[in-house]
Amino acid sequence: MVIDKDFVISDIDKRIYGSFIEHLGRAVYGGIYEPNHPSADEQGFRQDVLDLVNELQVPIIRYPGGNMVSAYNWEDGVGPKEERPRRLELAWGVIETNQVGTNEFMDWAKKANAEVMMAVNLGTRGIDAARNLVEYVNHPGGTAWSDLRKQHGYKEPHNIKTWCLGNEMDGSWQIGQKTPIEYGRLAAETAKAMRLVDPSIELVSCGSSGAGMPTFPEWEAVTLDHTYDFADYVSLHQYYENHDNDTANFLANSLDMENFIHTVISTCDYIRAKKRSKKTINLSFDEWNVWFHSKDQDKKLEPWSVAPPQLEDVYTFEDALLVGCMLNTLIRHSDRVKIAAMAQLVNVIAPIMTENGGGAWRQTIFYPFYYTSVYGRGMALKPIISSPKYDSTDFTDVPYLDTSVVYNEDKDEVVIFAINRHQENTLQVDIDARSFEGYEVAEHVVLQNDDPKAANTLGHEQVRPHNKGESYMEGGKVVGILPRLSWNMLRITKNKEQ
Ligand code: AHR
Repeated sequence: MVIDKDFVISDIDKRIYGSFIEHLGRAVYGGIYEPNHPSADEQGFRQDVLDLVNELQVPIIRYPGGNMVSAYNWEDGVGPKEERPRRLELAWGVIETNQVGTNEFMDWAKKANAEVMMAVNLGTRGIDAARNLVEYVNHPGGTAWSDLRKQHGYKEPHNIKTWCLGNEMDGSWQIGQKTPIEYGRLAAETAKAMRLVDPSIELVSCGSSGAGMPTFPEWEAVTLDHTYDFADYVSLHQYYENHDNDTANFLANSLDMENFIHTVISTCDYIRAKKRSKKTINLSFDEWNVWFHSKDQDKKLEPWSVAPPQLEDVYTFEDALLVGCMLNTLIRHSDRVKIAAMAQLVNVIAPIMTENGGGAWRQTIFYPFYYTSVYGRGMALKPIISSPKYDSTDFTDVPYLDTSVVYNEDKDEVVIFAINRHQENTLQVDIDARSFEGYEVAEHVVLQNDDPKAANTLGHEQVRPHNKGESYMEGGKVVGILPRLSWNMLRITKNKEQ
């Protein structure tokens, strides 16, 4: 592997380490909010959960959905709590009590040191509800909606900058599913009205629900033809599964993610060329993760309960490895991927789990996310790699070594995130860090477990990192020893004594 200061991909937009909280399952009720919990603050937010969220340093959180937003009336979630309606929440077959809504979530996000990426309902509603919401949250005052916010106790506007124009509108499961032309027209007109209310906002046009959709990438081409001049980003969503228990193939899924990103970039740039536009549309990968463990369980849920356990995947060690590869993929494409959201943050396909009334803990996937978010800030460098490769059921030429490199100039630090996909062999990585003279290995963190299916439960963390990785300097090169099936972070810093 060769790394060099001059091989710059891009400054990393920290928002690629974003996440997502949907009104779904126990993400909100029993997750971030549980007024009777021993750690609850005066607003009912669980402090133990906030502590874990703060550890992850998540800079932006998408809200309130997801599928749920496509039938959501935001007005139900503001004003006196005792007057808020209980509604049938059709996307997930539950009852929504509306005890948490826009204002409470903004308060919570402040406590989590995160900005909010707000989605509007383009399923059952449209221009009017969206522009009213922008006025309610962002207009300083002196109008009906902004004064209503003040009346609700929020004198200052929330100034929400980033907005999603609906969610997965191509999906048959979506309430108010649209054809690409229907969506493109509605999204463009909604964007226009929202921008008239607040010209400073940024907008995300809905891309396909996944690369496997039959309408991908035609959906992007047709919708962007309408939304190109109004939107700043297009969304990508992708989840991976390991139903066949085929570890080699499962870990190769980040190659599919990479391909997905390339195709979306090409489609955006095709529309740019077609329109003779000078503007570049960037990517918001605002739903990504592993999701499959809980699917059978979820089919058995009784309808119309309040905050039942839904999408509660218990993540394994090998899931954490794929999550590490997916994070590397985002970093390697940080020239075009400017926002991303690991879906989701608490209880629902999440790095953080809770027990109602009980403790909170870190799932296996918490760790690669934590280290990458905390140490992956700065400039993405393009490593030149030569790695042995393998073929799997669905992929050919899968490199055993998956890596990304981040240079933090302020800290004089180069951080290498590296996964060894090999199930039997240690991988020795010889790193020619030619332009980083006087740098040495400061830390080598390793996440490794002999059992790919090892998982973490409350009070029993089988999968946790250590920082006793075997790396050393030899002949001016860094030698990294990556154990079989492992996630690694090598921090290389300037020796200040030299
Ligand atoms: O994150 C779970 C669900 O996955 C979201 O609600 C939806 O947008 C996607 O299909």
